[in-house]
Amino acid sequence: MQEKSQDFRYEVLEGPLVERFRAANQTFEGDGIIKVWPPGCAMFAEYRNYADRVRRLAVREDDVWVVTYPKSGTTWMQEMVWLLVNNLDYKTARSILQTERSPYLEIGCWVTEAARTKANIGDSVREVEMLKSPRCIKTHLPLQMLPEQLWTVRPKIIYVARDAKDVAVSYYHHHRLFFGYAGSSEDFFEALLAEIVPYGSVWDHILDFWKLRHEPNVMFTTYEEMKKDLPGVVKQTADFLNCTLNSEEMKQLCDHLSFESMKNNPSVSHEIEVAKLRGMQTNINGEIQPFMRKGEVGSWKQDITPEIEKKINLYTKMKLADTDYVLPFTKENCTAKMK
Ligand code: A3P
Repeated sequence: MQEKSQDFRYEVLEGPLVERFRAANQTFEGDGIIKVWPPGCAMFAEYRNYADRVRRLAVREDDVWVVTYPKSGTTWMQEMVWLLVNNLDYKTARSILQTERSPYLEIGCWVTEAARTKANIGDSVREVEMLKSPRCIKTHLPLQMLPEQLWTVRPKIIYVARDAKDVAVSYYHHHRLFFGYAGSSEDFFEALLAEIVPYGSVWDHILDFWKLRHEPNVMFTTYEEMKKDLPGVVKQTADFLNCTLNSEEMKQLCDHLSFESMKNNPSVSHEIEVAKLRGMQTNINGEIQPFMRKGEVGSWKQDITPEIEKKINLYTKMKLADTDYVLPFTKENCTAKMK
């Protein structure tokens, strides 16, 4: 079945894998999963109410956009960017939730309109429209679904990529935490490989921005690089945003951005948002890990079986064939190619 919008076509996804995925997400209140064409990206059905409004969003020159596939270090980069843009105002950063300071453009589509009203959640696109400049905006949307004006107004865009295996595991735990996902991890990874999870294909998402990395208004970095050399990425980001930091300021910012510090900072740890969801009934076996979970590179090794590892490797190989994308994401590999 296909329905029309101004810019996109919608395909309702069906079949056993989709049904299993949907049923396993116990607190998923939306009415299904669709594919948005172009680019053929799986999304919550509610996104139909957002697609054209996002595409037509008025972009401002002094916006800073943080764009990622989910679970790639978005919160981490958002905090860095917000502080750089706001003269290192730690007081406000600690007292106002990051979700308000640096809103998630399309978050409204994660729930039905009815559930949104019941939970008193605002219209996230409207909230971004109303935000005072300079805006720090978070989105997980793939390139072709982003506002058209990004490429005429050309605000600063920062893209963070993360290796697919760590993304897969982190996304699985994210679904357990936010949607009461009660399916097996294997089923989740199969859904990810079939590109029916929200935001679809990890590698297509990354590669579209990798191709744009030389655009003057685009900065491309990776979670792995942030882990290896946080001061280096802070410096790169500060230069990109035309900010200067002395060594004391650099140290303070890196301390604020450390995993331990962010884990213990309710303004960014998403503890408050998760606590609000706790009222919902779920039936999940095993431990539910917090949003600030492991914060490591390669922690997938504890969650992915050799069989799934092989499948993800094959998937990655197929997606990266004929591209100049470099794996593994070491500083040596990436930095040379990124410049
Ligand atoms: P893990 O689940 O692997 O621990 P996003 O913000 O895009 O949803 O990404 C969340 C992931 O980034 C989680 O990964 C989270 O722990 C990690 N993360 C968040 N802040 C971090 C920090 N300061 N240092 C390292 N990792 C961080």
